[in-house]
Amino acid sequence: MRIKSADFVVSNTQVAQCPSDPIPEYAFIGRSNVGKSSLINMLTERKSLAKTSGRPGKTQLINHFKINNNWFLVDLPGYGYARVSKKEKKTFQKYITDYFLQRKQLLSAFVLVDIRHEPQPIDLKFMQWLGEQSIPFSIIFTKADKLKPNAIEREAEAYLAAMTKDVWEQAPPHFITSSTHSVGRDEILEYIDGINKAYYQEQTR
Ligand code: GTP
Ligand code: MG
Repeated sequence: MRIKSADFVVSNTQVAQCPSDPIPEYAFIGRSNVGKSSLINMLTERKSLAKTSGRPGKTQLINHFKINNNWFLVDLPGYGYARVSKKEKKTFQKYITDYFLQRKQLLSAFVLVDIRHEPQPIDLKFMQWLGEQSIPFSIIFTKADKLKPNAIEREAEAYLAAMTKDVWEQAPPHFITSSTHSVGRDEILEYIDGINKAYYQEQTR
């Protein structure tokens, strides 16, 4: 899929105020600093469409970006950020869970995890919650450039094996990415394109 346009639409904390366009939507979620905003810039090839920072907690709102006038990418705040209160660190902000529960247009979520890290309880908890809500998701492993090439697939496989060991019957789809080296771009865009096409076909039936 070619990205012909990528436009910031609106930021807010109220799901009710998110754009009402009945078009497919995809959201990026994960721990603070995992690389959600960087990935949006990499996918859209727009350097500073989404705001990024070396310090966690940069994205604080629900940000809608309209792509090709035809679907939305959504940048969300991270969870598990150390500078918020302990209670908040362990749970998910209500406006984030409300977003996932109420957003009918959301066709799939992408849960980002740093490929260098073991499965973290907060990520597993969030994915389990998505599963319980029947919200489709895939995993995006980020920062693959930080590992040696031969370690990349091994780490990803170990992560998915840990998931299917106790909770999940089947591992979700996964993508390996590096925003600094544009790795994984075509695969993610093709995946989204496939879902979009199925959605629009269904609409015209
Ligand atoms: P919050 O908005 O705070 O939740 O963070 P975020 O998940 O949006 O992360 P962001 O995209 O702001 O990136 C955090 C840091 O990781 C920045 O310093 C990025 O440059 C860096 N980063 C993101 N993706 C990659 C990557 O693929 N490779 C490397 N080496 N660094 C990355
Ligand atoms: Mg961000």
